[in-house]
Order: sequence, then C-alpha cells, then structure tokens
Amino acid sequence: METLLLAPEEVGRAAEIIRRGGIVAMPTETVYGLAGNALDGGTVKKIFEAKGRPADNPLIVHISDISQIYGLVRVFPEKAKILAEKFWPGPLTIILPKSDKIPDEVSAGLDTVAIRYPSHPLAQKLISLSMPLAAPSANLSGSPSPTTMRHVMDDMNGRIDAVLDGGECEVGVESTVISLAGDVPVVLRPGGITVEMLRNTIGEVEIASAVINPLAEGEKAESPGMKYKHYSPKADVVLVDGNDEEFISFVNSQMGQKLAVICYEEDKDLITAERIVVGKKGDYSAFAHNLFSALRRADELGCNIVYSRCPETAGMGLAVYNRIVRAAGFDIHLLVNSGKEGVQ
Ligand code: TXA
Ligand code: MG
Repeated sequence: METLLLAPEEVGRAAEIIRRGGIVAMPTETVYGLAGNALDGGTVKKIFEAKGRPADNPLIVHISDISQIYGLVRVFPEKAKILAEKFWPGPLTIILPKSDKIPDEVSAGLDTVAIRYPSHPLAQKLISLSMPLAAPSANLSGSPSPTTMRHVMDDMNGRIDAVLDGGECEVGVESTVISLAGDVPVVLRPGGITVEMLRNTIGEVEIASAVINPLAEGEKAESPGMKYKHYSPKADVVLVDGNDEEFISFVNSQMGQKLAVICYEEDKDLITAERIVVGKKGDYSAFAHNLFSALRRADELGCNIVYSRCPETAGMGLAVYNRIVRAAGFDIHLLVNSGKEGVQ
C-alpha cells in the first residue's frame, strides 16, 4: 500500500480515511500515534498488524471532549474526574472499567480501558471530525516511539494509509498512564504529568514496581506493555550512573567499538567519542524531548554501543529513566558516585 503524506491542512482527508476504516499516523503532544476507529474491532486488528504488536497489549482510546468518556467507561469516579478536569487535554491516560462499546481487540481481553484526551490541535481536530481513536505509538513494536513524521515513515512506510504531519512532538515520551480501576491509584507508566503533580492533586498514588525494575520471572505485568522489550535501537545501550567526572573519564576510556555517548550540553567538549546531546544537565524535559531521536540517531550513526547519562528518578527524570532503562535492557554500569536519588 502507498502511504500518503498529508499536510496539516489536509486533516479533513485524514478523517475521511479513518471514517472508511483506514489507519492514519497522527501527531500528538507526546509521540505520533497510529490511529483508527476505536469502536471497530476489524480496524483495531489492522493497527496491531501494522505495528507487529502482540495481541495481548491493549491500546489507548483518544477522545476530543471529556463528555465522550461516558459512553466508553462503566464508571467515572471522583478522582478520575478531578484528574481529567486538571490535566486534560494533556499527556495523561486514565484506566477505568470499560463499557460494552469497547471491542475486546482494544482492551486485549481486559475489563478496563485506557482513555486519553490529547492536547495537540491536529489530534483533537482529527478525532472531532471522525470518532474516538485507538492509537498506540506509531513505531514498529519494540523500537523507539516516533516524534517526527520522518521517524513514522522510517517504520511505517507502506504499512499504513497515511501520515498527518504535525511537526516535532513537544513532550517526546508517551503519556503518563494511571490506573483508577482499583482502590489506590497506580502509575503504570510515568510521563509528562509527573507523579508529584498527581499526588498534589489526588493524594495517595502508588508507582508500579515495573516502572523502574525488571519484571521478576513469572510476575504478571499490571500493564501488559511493561513486559515487552521496548524502545531499543539496534545498538546496545548501557546506562552509566556516576558523577560528571567519572562519566566523562569512563566514556573516554572505552575503545575498540563504534560507540556514541548520550550526554549533556556541559559534557560535550570533554568527550572524545561521537556525542548525542540531549539538553542541559538537570533539564529532564529536554532529555525527554530528545530521547527517542537520540536512540534513532545512534542507529543512523551505525553504532554498536551507546553509553548514556543516567537520569534522576524524580519529576520528569522518572519518565526518561523508565524508557532508557528498558532501551538498555536494565544494563546499568554503576560508577562510584551515583548521582541518582531513590524513588519514594
Ligand atoms: O502518549 C501516548 O500515550 C501515545 C500517544 C499516541 O497517545 N500512545 C501510546 O500508546 O504510547 P502505546 O500503545 O504505545 O502504549 C500504551 C500503554 C501500553 O504499555 C499498554 O500496555 C498500556 O498503555 N495499557 C493500555 N490499556 C491498558 C489497560 N486497560 N490496562 C493496563 N495497561 C494498559
Ligand atoms: Mg508504544
């Protein structure tokens, strides 16, 4: 199939393709999503096929108005309402018990559904011109999520009907996923709405262990997405945890392989190997914004190993850590003075 490249002003055409049962990659403020009619099981199956995604990993349903949630969930509890009022539209996904309208293909057989109201104007326009849209990140399953139209085309050219160009995604990592289907709210995936922001709004919020730890042998993932290898470039990624001097002398002492270093602006002139700069030290919004491009860049450079700075696990740092530790397959090289603080 030929994949059409649609300019922002062609959003009407994108909606028409979706109304006819097609799949369109759409920009959101987090990453590009692979969108199709969330209420049609056949369309949803095509999304799984295009991505090569395991059928037991459920999709997020995207809406363009809070009132649309009522047809999609069985209950809309008070805490969910407070979060929706405060953080929607924006990078927050809320998991709730699903209504009968949600096809099993979307929820992968679970009795819950993930709902998100994105803030990107083109995503909103596309949804309002069509219907609620199921949309996983628009990458091939296992590779880094796309934050530009070119990333989408690198993975999806010939596999989907169209890509709607919305420029570079602002946040750069996928939405925060919080489950409100149980007694205590649990963050299953950290993102642009931080755990601190959630706790300041609704009080007690747990963080699922799989956010920073590998799943134990036989452990059931609360969010099926957590059990799959994720965000990996072809190169091996190693997280290097230490202070500035240790990090620089460690990477400068590595030889004999085609290596690249994911580093901060301040490290740039001190590192001899190929550098991929992700922003100033401590600016985890910049790190998040640049992270997936950096991982894709490592492959473009033909590297076989990438050493990366290790983010803190507070604020936006937690979202970056969650992605990069998976990209690294939990391979962390601990130098003496780790700068990282624990997660509470
Ligand atoms: O920012 C985002 O959330 C992007 C954009 C396109 O909106 N979408 C995205 O979708 O990241 P995806 O499919 O790549 O990630 C969705 C995650 C997966 O880890 C999935 O397992 C989890 O959310 N998830 C979806 N529905 C769930 C449910 N009912 N229960 C538990 N986890 C769920
Ligand atoms: Mg994804």
